[in-house]
Amino acid sequence: MSLALCCAALSASASNYTPSPEVIQSQKQFSDDRFGIFIHWGIYSMFGQGEWYLNYGPQAEEYKKAAKGFYPAEFNAAEWVSAIKNAGAKYICITTRHHDGFSMWNTAESDYDIVDGTPFGRDILKELSEECLRQGIALHLYYSHLDWVRDDYPQGRTGKTTGRDPGKADWDSYFGFMNRQLTELLTGYGPIRAIWFDGWWDHDEDKTPFNWHLDEQYELIHKLQPSCMVANNHHQNPFPGEDIQIFERDLPGENTAGYSFQDISRLPLETCNTMNGMWGYKILDQNYKDPETLIRYLVKAAGLGTNLLLNIGPQPSGALPAAALERLAEIGKWMKENGETIYETEGSPFAAQSWGTSTRKGNRLFLHVMTPENNAILVPGNVNIKKAFEFRSGKKVRLTKAGDCTVVHLPEHESTPDFIIECEI
Ligand code: GLC
Repeated sequence: MSLALCCAALSASASNYTPSPEVIQSQKQFSDDRFGIFIHWGIYSMFGQGEWYLNYGPQAEEYKKAAKGFYPAEFNAAEWVSAIKNAGAKYICITTRHHDGFSMWNTAESDYDIVDGTPFGRDILKELSEECLRQGIALHLYYSHLDWVRDDYPQGRTGKTTGRDPGKADWDSYFGFMNRQLTELLTGYGPIRAIWFDGWWDHDEDKTPFNWHLDEQYELIHKLQPSCMVANNHHQNPFPGEDIQIFERDLPGENTAGYSFQDISRLPLETCNTMNGMWGYKILDQNYKDPETLIRYLVKAAGLGTNLLLNIGPQPSGALPAAALERLAEIGKWMKENGETIYETEGSPFAAQSWGTSTRKGNRLFLHVMTPENNAILVPGNVNIKKAFEFRSGKKVRLTKAGDCTVVHLPEHESTPDFIIECEI
């Protein structure tokens, strides 16, 4: 077959993409989970300035030397997974290789990795993957498409000052490297429920079209682990071969952070967001959102049928920051009591209202009353509420009508991030 024909065949197969039964099952589990924890951790954590530090001045050759001092003595996979599980999260997505190119597993493709390149010498991904399996938490792997260190990566818009030699760009070499690394990740670390790509945007498609050969890479992933979903944080409408749609720092339909221009597709949805302002550990950023805000964000996401992937940037020692642990515990307490209204639900049958939103399970509708203006709320007329009661106490709630809408009269209640009323519809 000629090269052109072969390429045509590949892209045709990708554009005809329909997820396999195994992927469909993962998508269902994923949507049911509603809540996951993102972990941004690597040698960048040592500088305490977020995961983009290498982009802002250091030479790659100098930066890489930090690996020789990386000894996260406090890393304990069992403690991480327990804290995350107790928060009510059902999956973890960890940065296996971020834009600084450092691999957090024992890759055979380079010595610039956690086992060969640091005195620590432990394969943290192995430890984490085994612990996830033991504690029943699904594992997703973040993998950067771009690389600010390797010469063979054809340079894009970012990482221009790290001292790479653009003359040595070699796409075939870099593509082969990525695919061999993905093969390691998908064959040596147990069940991986998703590969979460990031960095596509490094090549500005409008100005310099760049072919990432995603079709071939996605096929490889689906072949290696048929139940593994593909996600890509490219800020575009989903491409063929992708199984989840990602939003960054915004709920679907909003675009306050400037990354969410895309339409909302029919794929399972996820939005990732930070607890403070940065993904990787940043010593100056102690500006953590309060637990109430985080719980409400999770509820608003669920109201939009969307998962929340909430980020933590562990310290260089491997400890999760105390502020993050406190928030995990608070969210966990809330989820223990109210998780039934979040897990395995569908989004709200009506648009978010000034007072809050709703989630739904069969004929059970949960009104999440977060910011009522007075002691009654209006539910749009497209839902027919037969009965309503307080979710926690079971006490009956009074309903009246205003035109098409149902007026739900709020009983006296304690101040809470979210007062829940269950309705029969
Ligand atoms: C952005 C950033 C990256 C971060 C990611 C998380 O794409 O480049 O540092 O990992 O968002 O969503």
